[in-house]
Amino acid sequence: MMQRTAFLLCVTALFSSSLAQQTAAEEEEVEDETPVELFTTPTSKLAAATSDFGYNLFRQMAGSDPKASVLLSPISVSAALTQLSMGASPDSERQLYRVLRYHNLWDPQLHNTLRDLLASLRTPDRGFSSAARVCMERRLRVRLDYLNAVEKQYGVRPKVLLGSVRDVKDINDWVKQQTGSKVDRFLTSPFPRGAGLVPLSAGYFKGRWVTRFTQSGNLEDFNVEGASPVKVAMMKEDRYPIKMGADPDLGCTIAQVQMDGDVSMIFFLPDEVTTNTSLIEEALTAEFVQDLVMTLHPVRVDVTLPMLKLSYSADLLTSLSNMGLSDWLTQTNLQKISNQAIKVSTVRHKVAMETAPEGSQYPSFQPSTSSQALAISFRVNRPFIFLVRDEKSGTLLLIGKVLNPRNL
Ligand SMILES: *[C@@H]1O[C@H](CO)[C@@H](O)[C@H](O)[C@H]1NC(C)=O
Repeated sequence: MMQRTAFLLCVTALFSSSLAQQTAAEEEEVEDETPVELFTTPTSKLAAATSDFGYNLFRQMAGSDPKASVLLSPISVSAALTQLSMGASPDSERQLYRVLRYHNLWDPQLHNTLRDLLASLRTPDRGFSSAARVCMERRLRVRLDYLNAVEKQYGVRPKVLLGSVRDVKDINDWVKQQTGSKVDRFLTSPFPRGAGLVPLSAGYFKGRWVTRFTQSGNLEDFNVEGASPVKVAMMKEDRYPIKMGADPDLGCTIAQVQMDGDVSMIFFLPDEVTTNTSLIEEALTAEFVQDLVMTLHPVRVDVTLPMLKLSYSADLLTSLSNMGLSDWLTQTNLQKISNQAIKVSTVRHKVAMETAPEGSQYPSFQPSTSSQALAISFRVNRPFIFLVRDEKSGTLLLIGKVLNPRNL
């Protein structure tokens, strides 16, 4: 089930002369800890469930082609599949809930909890937008009850396809409108005949740092595995406030950078230039990340981050099948949608994101500290994994594996 990795904090060590004792003492502390219930409210439990679903999906996508970058908005995928689950028979719903990690929530108000969570995440100060909808072929003779129920609950009516090129325009216009024109060309061609039912989801994120970067735009080397470095525009700041830690077991440094709206971006930067990030991927769970953010240390270091402008689209069907939906896919039992057998032939997802130097505050002047003397820096100039996380609820908004920012 949940894989735990003892998080060994090493940044303290870098700042401290009594290296060995301190690290050993902290390690002991972590291992002696009795487990505490981390997620207590219906919202934080649901947020943890959608995040665990997201980490599982990310592992599948990243594992299916280790040489490829990945970018997902898990909460958007959860939202689309949850709309779909409203059409399922009790048994079919149970199977979907297991994959969505809802099966241990026992929340009779699950749909209301999710609706409220989604509404709270989409406020403008977070810079996050998301779209989720179910589309289906007209020939399925869809029950109006289902269309009405989803619309009433989630404010979006499932779309009955016309079966013409008009569908592409309608869907793309809708996704654009939901994402402030940031997710464009969601579909590039019409669904094939016999597409059945298609859950679709999209996400966009462009947050604002709490502390802005004053140096930006310089092209610098970004190292890629097995090839010469590529030039990527970077943003930089000396003695920038972040939270930081190192995990020798995972072979990476971890840094959390605060953004407006109680959102943060968490970077997992492997020590080596490698596309093999499987150790980090395997460690990711809602619980691990929650523990992690509580153990990172506030520090001021020289930070260099790539200026990202990423776009990614994928069919999630194979990954979902591998996550335990293969039986479900052969017999969906979506009897509240239609009496006819319904096939799900594709699960469309598209995500875009940007990072820019802007922030709401200028960095405050800090006198030189030991970190300066030791010249500690955090430079994201090689393949990395990142999360965008809503800190209040713990929801995973985006997750990405970036091997080469110029190819994504
Ligand atoms: C990736 O790294 C893990 C752990 O170090 C190792 O077990 C695995 O074999 C590696 N995978 C590849 C494809 O090299």
